Amino acid sequence: MKKGSGDEPVVPRSVAVIMDGNGRWAKRAGFERIRGHERGIDAVRTTVTECARLGVEALVLYAFSEENWQRPQREINLLFGLLERFLVEERDTLMQNRVRLLHSGRRARLSPKVLRLLDETVALTAANTGMRLSLAISYGGRQELLDAMQQLARRVQKGELAPEAIDEAALRSALYQPDLPDPDLLIRTAGEMRISNFLLWQVSYAEIHVSDVCWPEFGAEQLAAAFRDYGRRVRKFGKVL
Ligand code: IPE
Ligand code: IPE
Ligand code: MG
Repeated sequence: MKKGSGDEPVVPRSVAVIMDGNGRWAKRAGFERIRGHERGIDAVRTTVTECARLGVEALVLYAFSEENWQRPQREINLLFGLLERFLVEERDTLMQNRVRLLHSGRRARLSPKVLRLLDETVALTAANTGMRLSLAISYGGRQELLDAMQQLARRVQKGELAPEAIDEAALRSALYQPDLPDPDLLIRTAGEMRISNFLLWQVSYAEIHVSDVCWPEFGAEQLAAAFRDYGRRVRKFGKVL
């Protein structure tokens, strides 16, 4: 159980963020949607460096869902252009903060260029011992569970695994990033109260914090507010305290 006294922030071990509201922020400011995504990069940098500084062990950022492939091709191209830039330009920041980059999601639809930049940045940061940062790109929670089940079924078919041996640990081992701890805190911006297919297995006991600000406006202050909110939660995991 993690329970802070009063209004003290408590730093969760593992945090996941649904970075939402880029389009709304841009629209309100009179810009094209893509300007919201551009500004969102600044919020990513702040959140990553703040979480690393405060001692978060694992951070998963929802950057592009499997369902986001249904967006207009122009927006998809611009988003991946930003991602490519991020994967190169943020290398120094990741190294300085000793952050190790990972990917959660399917690789099949990612372009060779995105895959190359992603793999290069993952390799460059592989020996970093600070916070692990997983970017959820082409990620869907249902798809992750389907991929895991197919992997387990193949092992059963080969005779490596008995059906009765499929327990929680076996399923977890087949997830995209099996070594990441489950999120203690799930943050969503732009006031939306839904999961949108994010980390369905892993968020079973996550505390949920919804921030009203759109993602481009999310900064250190909003992160601290989320950690204060987390500090007030009583986590029971089904037990009687
Ligand atoms: C989140 O912002 C970024 C992605 C989903 C890639 P949105 O683009 O969903 O912004 P809104 O929800 O339309 O405001
Ligand atoms: C969830 O946001 C996906 C990401 C933040 C990458 P969406 O904007 O796609 O979710 P919905 O459509 O509002 O549920
Ligand atoms: Mg949205």
